[in-house]
Amino acid sequence: MIPHTVIEDLKARLDLVDVVSSYVTLQRSGSNLRGLCPFHSERSPSFTVFTGGDPHFYCFGCGAGGDVVSFIMRIENLDYPAAIEFLAKRAGVTLPESAGEQERGVGRKRILEMNVCAARFFRDMLEDPSVGRPGRDYIEERQLPRAIVRRFGLGYAPDSFGMLHDHLKKNGFTDEEMTVGYCCGVSRKSGKPYDLFRGRLMIPIIDVTGAIIAFGGRILGDPQPDKNGNKPPKYLNSSDTPAFKKGRSVFALNFAKSKCEERLILCEGYMDVIMLHAAGFENAVASLGTAFTAEHARLMKKYTSHVVIAYDSDGAGQNATNKALPILAEAGVDARVLSMQGAKDPDEYIKKFGAAKFNEILNGSRPRFEYRLDAILAEHPIADPTEKIKASAALCAEIAQVSSSVERDIYIARAAEALSADPKSVKSDVESLIRRRRKQEKAARPGELVRAGMGLSDRVNPDFAKQPRSAHIEEALLGLLLLRREYRTLAVDGSPLEEEELPTELGRRIFSAVQAGEEAGGFDFGMLNESFTQDEVSRIMRMYGERMQLTENGPEVFTEFLRALRAENDKKRDGNADDYLYFIRKKREQNKTAP
Ligand code: GTP
Ligand code: MN
Repeated sequence: MIPHTVIEDLKARLDLVDVVSSYVTLQRSGSNLRGLCPFHSERSPSFTVFTGGDPHFYCFGCGAGGDVVSFIMRIENLDYPAAIEFLAKRAGVTLPESAGEQERGVGRKRILEMNVCAARFFRDMLEDPSVGRPGRDYIEERQLPRAIVRRFGLGYAPDSFGMLHDHLKKNGFTDEEMTVGYCCGVSRKSGKPYDLFRGRLMIPIIDVTGAIIAFGGRILGDPQPDKNGNKPPKYLNSSDTPAFKKGRSVFALNFAKSKCEERLILCEGYMDVIMLHAAGFENAVASLGTAFTAEHARLMKKYTSHVVIAYDSDGAGQNATNKALPILAEAGVDARVLSMQGAKDPDEYIKKFGAAKFNEILNGSRPRFEYRLDAILAEHPIADPTEKIKASAALCAEIAQVSSSVERDIYIARAAEALSADPKSVKSDVESLIRRRRKQEKAARPGELVRAGMGLSDRVNPDFAKQPRSAHIEEALLGLLLLRREYRTLAVDGSPLEEEELPTELGRRIFSAVQAGEEAGGFDFGMLNESFTQDEVSRIMRMYGERMQLTENGPEVFTEFLRALRAENDKKRDGNADDYLYFIRKKREQNKTAP
């Protein structure tokens, strides 16, 4: 555990507003500051930094909240000790010897070190005269120039169950680190670790800071079925580790980030990206392994506002394009779509037609609307009246998503022309769609809050719905307690609030964290990040923030709630003798063990 005093000292040197301002443009709003939330896509600011009391942030849109440490954990995608290290560096504070490394399982830092060691091993194997032969042959077959192999740090995982394991072990990495870091799996039969990547071309996945966060491994040649008829995957990617979260990383953005102001080329696969870089398009990237996510889009938006989607030309690629377009638009990225004929993907296109021709089609890539217009008209041949109605509905839905009215008018004219319809009718259809959507959004918002308040669909505190009345009281009590820690000693009928009186597991954990913090010399919100998930921290910040905004927070409010909670608990006990007996038994046991 990082000593409490270290965190206090660190937080004292950091200004939350200052830290947040490096990521979000904040504007004063009353006594607080507001900006566009970096954790979800929004057009009007609901991300708020509260400067009174314990400085904290809370987003009224997505519910993200916490202190300066939580903010860095979320935005830099770091675990707790790594976030502390990050902030210490920023504040110019030296942490006590390996404060961030003690007493946690396998951390991000260790995995990153292991990945460097593994990447070197793969590279050395590729160059090894005898072992690396299959890898080198494959690289030649795919026409990858040597310079690009080196630039991307490509390597070869030998077709062996233990060479990587032995190498990592020799370099001081433990079996646990290898399995947690997705370099090795554990054999179900023998319980022994074995190499996960075997006989593959290895592609390090590097984040924008230059850290090797994961690997992708491509099988050499076509996947062949084994004797049971099972085919190995063409690509094997690291699964989630403390250093890598799928859906968050953009492959080759480390190279592309400084070359993409004009535009970024978004591909489906590693090989497309590598081939494009080899052909001089150093602004090519790929979203990895999973479908395109809002996090991918927001990460890209940090470096550019223009993205050309160059997914495969097959049906799957076009579906993926249709899904990625609105996600990019939401993130404020102007997206265009490449139209590729005569090749299935950029890799093949470059090999067939050359870089100059690719550059041509790149410049000819169509804006989202035109792409959708063509796709919709191709899907619904308007000679047929029912198809024409479908095409019109699809086009109007497309146009209704555009926020600029000038832009909408241009598209309305284009759509009307394509449908040979009256622009006025198209316009009125679009407008009624927009009205309907606004109404729905309005209706959905409070509904969501009410649902969350009732604890329905509450993933963060699943116990909430089981006893909503006492869970509401619990939130009030904990909010007050976080605001005024001295309330923990306030007694009703001679006894202060006790952990087991609280109805939810989350509530009990929060209570015990506050108690432990106070006993260790003073509770601090920074301590929460260690033992609570970020969603839980957000919930805690909401409890705290809600109380802070109320004026009535005196001790009598706390005791009133404590009385109410006990009344609820009494009711429950009367209704359920089993629970009561359990409660008594537990109490007795505690009294026995107490000194
Ligand atoms: P090549 O055949 O090497 O040119 O690959 P490609 O880039 O053309 O691959 P494809 O279009 O089939 O797949 C695009 C991307 O999807 C790949 O780069 C991988 O990230 C991912 N992918 C493809 N096959 C698999 C697989 O079997 N498993 C997993 N996890 N991912 C895959
Ligand atoms: Mn390909």
